[in-house]
Amino acid sequence: MYSITTTPIRVTASALPKTAGLRGCIVAASYSSLTSLSHKPAHTPYHTHRSVSSTTPQSKIKEFFPKVETKQIVEVESAWRHPVYTEAQMRSIQVSHRQARNWSDWFALAMARVLRWGMDTVTNYKHPSSSNGKFEMTEKNWLNRILFLESVAGVPGMVAGMLRHLRSLRTMKRDNGWIETLLEEAHNERMHLLTFMKIAQPGLFMRLMVLGAQGVYFNGLFFAYLISPRTCHRFVGYLEEEAVITYTRIIEEIEAGHLPAWREMQAPEIAVKYWDMPEGSRSMRDLMLYVRADEAKHREVNHTLGNLDQKADPNPYTAVYRDSTKLKPSKGADLMKETGWEREEVI
Ligand SMILES: [Fe+2]
Ligand SMILES: [Fe+2]
Repeated sequence: MYSITTTPIRVTASALPKTAGLRGCIVAASYSSLTSLSHKPAHTPYHTHRSVSSTTPQSKIKEFFPKVETKQIVEVESAWRHPVYTEAQMRSIQVSHRQARNWSDWFALAMARVLRWGMDTVTNYKHPSSSNGKFEMTEKNWLNRILFLESVAGVPGMVAGMLRHLRSLRTMKRDNGWIETLLEEAHNERMHLLTFMKIAQPGLFMRLMVLGAQGVYFNGLFFAYLISPRTCHRFVGYLEEEAVITYTRIIEEIEAGHLPAWREMQAPEIAVKYWDMPEGSRSMRDLMLYVRADEAKHREVNHTLGNLDQKADPNPYTAVYRDSTKLKPSKGADLMKETGWEREEVI
């Protein structure tokens, strides 16, 4: 059995940046709000025993989504089966950036950068090069960041899918297959969140931050998608570029031995089942490879959707093509187009 030990975080005045009055409070509170679980290897039933941070009384920790079993029901199954990824496919994922080509792209990029800055501030993200060579991101810091990131990442697909669904209902026109892919993306992001919540659960402060962020983000995206869905897909494409960077860095740091608690730790059972992780490839590093591949697919899908005519074009990811020998967009990691498919390639 492996566990992440939770040592109290001390934040001293001298350790804080000069401008970080409020930020210091946020950081201190968000650190103390994160609690970790004792973590058993995959396929081992979870028990209620946990190691918790000194700042969160054990009595206040609860299982957010315990597996529900009733007299007649053992489990619930998802209609969306995750495509199977190979290690080689996941290893081939690259950090990339799609150049902005017009004002809509520039606006989307600027908004993505603003959101990234906000997330860095809230989760106290530090890049090694900005910390005088001293390594500062611990497992706990990463989990804080991942939980916040994944809790907002599941919003755009749901907003876009919902609005396209409503438009189809009120205009009595076909959607041409977009809704399914968008809702599947939202589901995938929520599975990321649930997976990481099996490793560490956020405390009250973090949950309040998520609540506030969701309120702002959902409503902002709702109106933005009504005005310019193309810009919103580009914006999500740029955010996913950042997500690929984040997970690439985590993988590199696990492999470099900077995150010792994750070196031998196994992925939670929920992840093993969802990604169908093969035996012998169920470590935290493997888990990060799966999540990064998902983010790379979201990056491609959203950049592709951002290239299309939002009202008329069918969804290339659910389309059946005339020429079956031609390369076409896939749901899996077998064919990744980092900057998305151009319209003339798929429509
Ligand atoms: Fe995600
Ligand atoms: Fe994503």
